[in-house]
Amino acid sequence: MKIENPNPLQWHFSKRSQQLKSSAIREILKITMRPEITSFAGGLPSPATFPVEQMKAAFDKVLSLQGKIALQYGPTDGYGPLREWVANSLSTSDGKILPEQVLMVSGSQQGLDLLGKVMIDEGSKVLVETPSYLGALQAFSVYGPEFVSLPSDEQGLIPSGVDTLGKDARLLYSLPNFQNPTGRTLPLERRLALVEACARNGLPLIEDDPYGALSYRNDPLPKMLNMNPGGVIYMGSFSKVLTPGIRLGYVVAPTPLIAKMEQAKQATDLHTAQLTQMVVYEAIKDGFLDQHIPTIRKLYADQCQAMLDALQTYFPAAASWTRPEGGMFIWVTLPDHIDTGELLKEAVEQHVAFVPGAPFYANAPQKNTLRLSFVTVPPEKIRVGIERLGKLIASKL
Ligand SMILES: Cc1ncc(COP(=O)(O)O)c(C=O)c1O
Repeated sequence: MKIENPNPLQWHFSKRSQQLKSSAIREILKITMRPEITSFAGGLPSPATFPVEQMKAAFDKVLSLQGKIALQYGPTDGYGPLREWVANSLSTSDGKILPEQVLMVSGSQQGLDLLGKVMIDEGSKVLVETPSYLGALQAFSVYGPEFVSLPSDEQGLIPSGVDTLGKDARLLYSLPNFQNPTGRTLPLERRLALVEACARNGLPLIEDDPYGALSYRNDPLPKMLNMNPGGVIYMGSFSKVLTPGIRLGYVVAPTPLIAKMEQAKQATDLHTAQLTQMVVYEAIKDGFLDQHIPTIRKLYADQCQAMLDALQTYFPAAASWTRPEGGMFIWVTLPDHIDTGELLKEAVEQHVAFVPGAPFYANAPQKNTLRLSFVTVPPEKIRVGIERLGKLIASKL
């Protein structure tokens, strides 16, 4: 018997699905994967930093000694010893973080989605930086918020905006360390002011921090989580310090919120893979990250410097850019009349790519901006790629 189906596009999709859009970056990445293109577009960590041998040994040990547990379903809140490790690693002399405050998630991207699910209603106000992480805008958009863009400058968001704009908001989403997309870092006094302003307004403060460990200097600024554990929702990730392919991150928050997010996670995927969590715990429990992270910082610091030097040499004076102190990104601002979406088409013809800045804005996109990632391109290719881009920009002035 042959059954004829109607065109699936006539099926009735949910209203929510209409809010779903492909990330502009993923679309661009498809083009820029071509081998002849020098791509500064990706947001991927350098594969040179992936500790393949350490992971192989950890998989082997976990499967040999605890295989029956590792291959079984596990608890929704996560693998106990790993939650404890996370809690200890985030505790300071002033404030202890407890394992009950930690929810293991399948990448911090899942943490953003779960948070949206339990905290955002249609029309809820969500305060964001200008610009902000595209993946968070994408995750929250599904729940129909009204994004309110907080005034921000080269040091990050300006806390005084919170008292006026944050009154009846649900969340404030912040990226204090080596922000994606700009690479900027929120100074200490602004962190304190932001934590105080959010507490004053009863506004939950999200601190999304996947790059915090990748400081090129050895003096990371204090986390806002430790300034006010009762008012901050902290997101961490193993993607940039170990490997993104294992999809493992964590949320640290007051226990009533963790309990709600745990229910949402149960409905989503029951739990994050027990095998992965046990392997990561095995790989890091004896201090591996203390030796590994400095090697990532050194590599990225050198490549960042190579790009800053090339920008200085080859970009016209009319362009300006950030000078990150850690992380993976540099943000460039061009004269107002240059639309970087259009510029990208010509850049790709010349075998160099970047991400146009507009999709990183929740409101009023600044089309003359772009993001450059330096971590997957070796210094000599960085120089050549930036030279080509500099010439292209100069031809538009
Ligand atoms: C700011 C920010 N938050 C969250 C994520 C998601 O990371 P994960 O791999 O842990 O899901 C990324 C990934 O690039 C990011 O840049």
